[in-house]
Amino acid sequence: MRFLITAGPTREPLDPVRFISNRSTGKMGFALAQAAAEAGHEVVLVAGPVALETPPGVRRVDIETALEMLAAVERELPAAEVYISCAAVADWRPEVCSPTKLKKHEMAGTLRLVRNPDILKTLRPLKGTRTFIGFAAETGEPDAEATRKLREKGLDMIVANDVTAPGAGFAHDTNRVTLLFPDGHREALPLMTKHEVAQRVIACAQTLATQTE
Ligand code: C5P
Repeated sequence: MRFLITAGPTREPLDPVRFISNRSTGKMGFALAQAAAEAGHEVVLVAGPVALETPPGVRRVDIETALEMLAAVERELPAAEVYISCAAVADWRPEVCSPTKLKKHEMAGTLRLVRNPDILKTLRPLKGTRTFIGFAAETGEPDAEATRKLREKGLDMIVANDVTAPGAGFAHDTNRVTLLFPDGHREALPLMTKHEVAQRVIACAQTLATQTE
C-alpha cells in the first residue's frame, strides 16, 4: 500500500531570520513513517523542519511553510492510498515576508497575520476511496474537539491526544492517544512508545484502506 504522511511543524517566515512556528518535533510522524515502511508499505514523508533522521526505505520531501506543505501533499496525494496528516501546520502566517532582515525600528508592535489553508479540508475533494487520517493535539479532555474535527474534515479516523498529559505530546518518546471513528466507536490506548502507537495507527489504516478498496 502507498502511504503519504506529513510530520513536524511548519515555519512561517517574517523575514530571512524570523519565523512563527510551534513545538512539534516530528517524532510521532517519523514513527508513523518508520512503522509503515517496516510493515512493507511504500512511504512518502512530507516533513517540516525537524532534527530527525529519515527512516530507512522512506522517501522524504522537506518543506518549510504550510503553503509548501499543501503543494507537496497535492503533488503526492494522487499516488497514495492512505494519507496520514500528523503535521502541526501553523494556522496563521505573517501577511508579508520581508526579503531582507527587518530592522528593529521597521517592526511595528503588532504583527498582521493571514490564515493558512487547512490542508486536509482543501484536499477533501480528492479523497475518493483514499483513507484520510488526522491527528488532534489538544490541551485538556480531547475527545469532543477531536470528534468535531473528524466530522468537519471528513476523516476515516482521528488520533486524539492531550498534549499536556504526563508522558504525552510534543518532544516525548511516549504518547497516550485515543482512536476515534466516524461511527462513534473509540479506542483508548494506554501510554505507549510513539513507535508502538505508530504500529497501531498503521495497522488501523491498513484495515480501513482494505475496507474501502
Ligand atoms: O490544527 P488542527 O487541530 O485543526 O489539526 C487537526 C488535523 O488537521 C491534523 O491532522 C493536522 O495535520 C490537520 N491540519 C491541516 N491543515 C491545517 C491545520 C491542520 O491539514 N492548516
